[in-house]
Amino acid sequence: MVDPSPSSVTPVEKNHSRYNQGVLSQRIFFPPTFNRPTRIAKANGPISFAHYMHLCLSHPTEGYYMNPSNAVFGSKGDFITSPDISQLFGELVAVWFMSRYLEAARDKAMRLVELGPGRGTLMDDMLRTLSQLRSLDKVKHVHLVETSSALRKTQEQRLRFWAEKSHLKLVWHDSIDDIPAAEDTYTMLVAHEFFDALPVHLIEKTHQGWNEVLISSAPDLAAKNVLRPSSSSSALDLPSPAVLSSPSTSHFRPVLSETSSPISTLLGSSSSRFLSLPIGSRIEVSPVGYRIARKVGKLIGGRPDSDEEGRKELGSALIIDYGGDRAYGNSFRAFKDHKIVDPFHRPGQCDLTANVDFAYLKEAMTDLLSAHFVNTYGWSRHLAPTAFDSHLPCYSATTYGPITQHDFLMRMGIGKRVEDLQSKATSEGRKTTVENDAKRLVDLTGMGKEYKVLGVVSPPPAAGHMVWPFVEAEKTS
Ligand SMILES: C[S@@+](CC[C@H](N)C(=O)[O-])C[C@H]1O[C@@H](n2cnc3c(N)ncnc32)[C@H](O)[C@@H]1O
Repeated sequence: MVDPSPSSVTPVEKNHSRYNQGVLSQRIFFPPTFNRPTRIAKANGPISFAHYMHLCLSHPTEGYYMNPSNAVFGSKGDFITSPDISQLFGELVAVWFMSRYLEAARDKAMRLVELGPGRGTLMDDMLRTLSQLRSLDKVKHVHLVETSSALRKTQEQRLRFWAEKSHLKLVWHDSIDDIPAAEDTYTMLVAHEFFDALPVHLIEKTHQGWNEVLISSAPDLAAKNVLRPSSSSSALDLPSPAVLSSPSTSHFRPVLSETSSPISTLLGSSSSRFLSLPIGSRIEVSPVGYRIARKVGKLIGGRPDSDEEGRKELGSALIIDYGGDRAYGNSFRAFKDHKIVDPFHRPGQCDLTANVDFAYLKEAMTDLLSAHFVNTYGWSRHLAPTAFDSHLPCYSATTYGPITQHDFLMRMGIGKRVEDLQSKATSEGRKTTVENDAKRLVDLTGMGKEYKVLGVVSPPPAAGHMVWPFVEAEKTS
């Protein structure tokens, strides 16, 4: 079995993952080369964190993920992710999906959906595992939701082999909204380190309501009399090194708007959890993440006009990311060359990220049917933002967890799989690598604790039914 004790993990230089490792390893300042955020902030006034994040990551030519000159992944890039650390990660994810499929939908055709597939490593490992389990012939489509054409090319090169071998179709989409409903097909949807890359708004609870913290390019505080420097720190947060302590050398400054706006008010009331927060609390909220999670809930939950059998067998999803079952207020950060860096100093050339509020994602995926009736018949509904809802009625999906990546992988049998791989290894060095890589994934002082796994299935399992490996976790909807 894998011993997850961190002392036995070999440190790997230039090989860092993106969770908040608690230290600003190096504050690095660069002159901005991508000046669109500055131009927009100068022309129109301060911009939201969400707008800044969207521009820096997803601008069509200069965005971090869009520009092929950014290496992004691996030891030559800015960070490494679990699928690239060990093939065992994707294998065990695939085994989880197959166990759900065999329990719920044996014999149906399958389709795989991945949100933000990066280099395609996770999907490659999943397809190989399905092939080894002699189930690949059931997969008709692989849907990849990816906005970066540079990364689409990399994914195509990586996955083409499976398309040719098994005659499955690889289909790329700009948005999860473009994935068609397919109730005769079992959907397996995975999102690994995807939700953390979606833009967050930063809002602060004040005596007047929720006000947004914005990013200003104006050096002169007095010139902006509707804004004041953002100073409070969130009661909700990690001691984050990254943002709001930015020194004056930065081209941007966070500033707190003195009035609430429709978006800050909407976001502040979008979860009942936010109502009880004390004045001065700050939270990062992603309406884009909410909307995408809601669509995941709809794809997995299904429509009420599907028959009972179809309702049970629609599919399952795993959402894996860093974060927890709570809101964060100060987790926004940037990565460059495997180090946490100042997020304002190299727009478009650094990865930007924020911890995921899994409770918010669960809220988005559940209560779908009642939300529809409330919206349709105009009953008062003061919590869930109707602006995020579409008008099609859907069942809620059922969510489990999140549990830690350590618990997920250990319970899915990573220890046994390490032994299998080691028994086939042709050198001692390979055996050590297999073990160290697995230990890194489950390390309780690092990735094993910081990354969480949320399970999503179609409703509703029979009373007393559990979904492995989410055993100690209460059913959360
Ligand atoms: C941090 S990377 C994770 C890659 C991969 N899942 C992994 O774990 O190695 C984020 C991925 O999501 C994609 N992405 C970011 N924002 C997106 C959006 N709004 N819609 C679709 N894809 C997006 C990026 O291009 C990239 O492929």
